[in-house]
Amino acid sequence: MGWNSWNKFEDKINEKLIRETADAMVEKGLLEAGYIYLNLDDLWHGERDGQGFIHEDPEKFPSGMKALGDYIHSKGLKFGIYSDGGTMTCGCEPGSFGHEYQDAYTYASWGVDYLKYDWCNHRDINPKGAYRLMRDALRASGRPIFFSMCEWGSNKPWLWAEDIGHSWRTTGDIGCSFVDPIHHYDENGKYVWTKLSVLNILDRNEPLRQYAGPGHWNDPDMLEVGNGMSVNEDRAHFTLWCLMAAPLLLGNDLTTMTDETLAIITNKAVIALDQDRLGVQGLRFRRNGDIEYWFKPLQNGDWAFCILNRGSEDVKVKVNWKDFCFTDSISGMSTDFDKLVYKGVNLWDTAAAAISTSSDLDVDVPSHDVKLYRLSAVK
Ligand code: GLA
Repeated sequence: MGWNSWNKFEDKINEKLIRETADAMVEKGLLEAGYIYLNLDDLWHGERDGQGFIHEDPEKFPSGMKALGDYIHSKGLKFGIYSDGGTMTCGCEPGSFGHEYQDAYTYASWGVDYLKYDWCNHRDINPKGAYRLMRDALRASGRPIFFSMCEWGSNKPWLWAEDIGHSWRTTGDIGCSFVDPIHHYDENGKYVWTKLSVLNILDRNEPLRQYAGPGHWNDPDMLEVGNGMSVNEDRAHFTLWCLMAAPLLLGNDLTTMTDETLAIITNKAVIALDQDRLGVQGLRFRRNGDIEYWFKPLQNGDWAFCILNRGSEDVKVKVNWKDFCFTDSISGMSTDFDKLVYKGVNLWDTAAAAISTSSDLDVDVPSHDVKLYRLSAVK
């Protein structure tokens, strides 16, 4: 859990913003809620010196990366940085190709705790070899550094990276849109690339649940909560990422966010679903048109249960629990609605009365929103 500069700020990063973000993470209770990594994304770089050592952009970071890392650590946070396995990053800054051990050494000397490693300009080098090389370089640096692989799922890292990265991106980049992808065109109107929507990514990441687990997570990209979607959409996005046991990397401006945004990203009961120690990614159990039913098995035998409305109309939903009995092949856990009664706490509306699976659930699910419950068997 942490924050990353890219979704909101792209190239507009500097040490003032990062220090203010560190302050906000502590003052607004985000660190306490679990968000510990403060990660710089692309475009922090200056040039390599004559010996090949990378330096920060002296205008954006005049005090230097070591001082920035010290400040971040003084707040109780951890420091993340970004590079690329190719010759240049996606933002055309120097990549780590040919400098892997040197860069890992430099990051460790700055106090870096997390590396996001991108895949632009890789010139068809072998992805497994490139990521393994940087993993070994990080290990050799002598500092524990979280290794976040970002090759967008192009080479199916879930099949080979379990002992290489701690997480791997499963898709292309997220955009701030719930339903529709955002297409980008150049000045001549020629198609360039697409940012995926929340639902696009959901549909790509869900089938990969068998590959995620403690120490090797599917990463459906950073959060867009607070960047312009509706409150309903933000709540649904956050919920679904928690159900998918995703890394929770905030991507909004923490210094100016609204109280509604803060309430979403600090909902401890929802975060607890994401961080649950069983470490099993949730599943889409059933889809009926725009309505989806999701479950996530939890360590203490509870289940997270979510109804998602993907459509543009509010929908009245009826759940007959006996139709939702199943055994999850990954956790081996069953929803025993035919044998046991479960009590369900509404995690987004704690003032609401608890539900019981002893009778049907009748509930209104607004457009682009969720209903989310934690179900516990009544002894
Ligand atoms: C790629 C990554 C993004 C971001 C940018 C930076 O597109 O997927 O998450 O890091 O590069 O240039």
